[in-house]
Amino acid sequence: MPIRVTREGHVATVTVDRPERLNALDTETLRELLARFDELAQDPSVRAIVLTGAGDRAFIAGADIAEMKDKGPAEALTFARLGQAVCSAIESAPQPVIAAINGYALGGGCEIALACDIRLASEKAVLGQPEVTLGVPPGWGGTQRLPRLVGPGLARELIFTGRRVAAEEALRTGLVNAVYPPSELLERARALAADVARNGPVAVRLAKEAIRRGLDVDLEAGLALEAQAFALAFSTADQREGMSAFLEKRAPVFRGL
Ligand code: HXC
Repeated sequence: MPIRVTREGHVATVTVDRPERLNALDTETLRELLARFDELAQDPSVRAIVLTGAGDRAFIAGADIAEMKDKGPAEALTFARLGQAVCSAIESAPQPVIAAINGYALGGGCEIALACDIRLASEKAVLGQPEVTLGVPPGWGGTQRLPRLVGPGLARELIFTGRRVAAEEALRTGLVNAVYPPSELLERARALAADVARNGPVAVRLAKEAIRRGLDVDLEAGLALEAQAFALAFSTADQREGMSAFLEKRAPVFRGL
């Protein structure tokens, strides 16, 4: 199986496991990834997800070029939509998804990372959108999510040149949230996921959805979404538990209800 899922408490780790191809995504791997994220989305015991790549060289080196090379336009459209569906499944997963970028995150690999909520990188990470060097534009959301994350100027430069970005530049430009030594990356990502998982899970989900939906609407509509999310939280036992625990000076016990 090209995708491995492990669990530790409320945190799931999803690993793309094709190290001999630097975890490049072919159709089979994409379908697996989609199926695993669909399952995780249905599992209320999972409160945060870490996504990483097997081995010490790559997060995901992109779409599988060998598989793509001989596609016709109709097959290319299907392939673009499949990868986009994976990115959408990650982005709209109810739980926050943290990318642990342990090496190359190029093309489709960078696009998968862009669909995650938070990106942590190893000092060895290399990100970029090299599609134009292969004669194609990005196809799994890079033209849309990269400008939203780093701004249209830098996004245009990176997409038009295909230039690779090292971890330090990725940090400076907001492409990643933090950079760690390779040996620490996965533990740091899991620790961050565990921090998220300690909080009220319904509140985290509502916040994720408000941020995601709010990014694509005007401020007034976004604030309306936020107020509705806030009000909805008052239908949960966790809201009473969280506020009671604060007033009683004890740690809250959230049940996701
Ligand atoms: C298929 C890949 C691959 C990929 C690496 N490999 N990336 N196979 N698709 N995207 C394979 C290599 O062919 C090689 O196989 C093995 O993995 C090891 O890679 P090497 O190239 O030998 O390693 P190295 O010299 O260290 O170079 C690492 C690298 C380079 C810089 C990451 O592999 C590279 O440039 N890869 C392609 C990156 C890329 O352009 N990604 C974007 C793809 S387009 P063998 O059999 O020789 O050992 C894309 C579009 C998304 O993602 C949208 C689609 C709709």
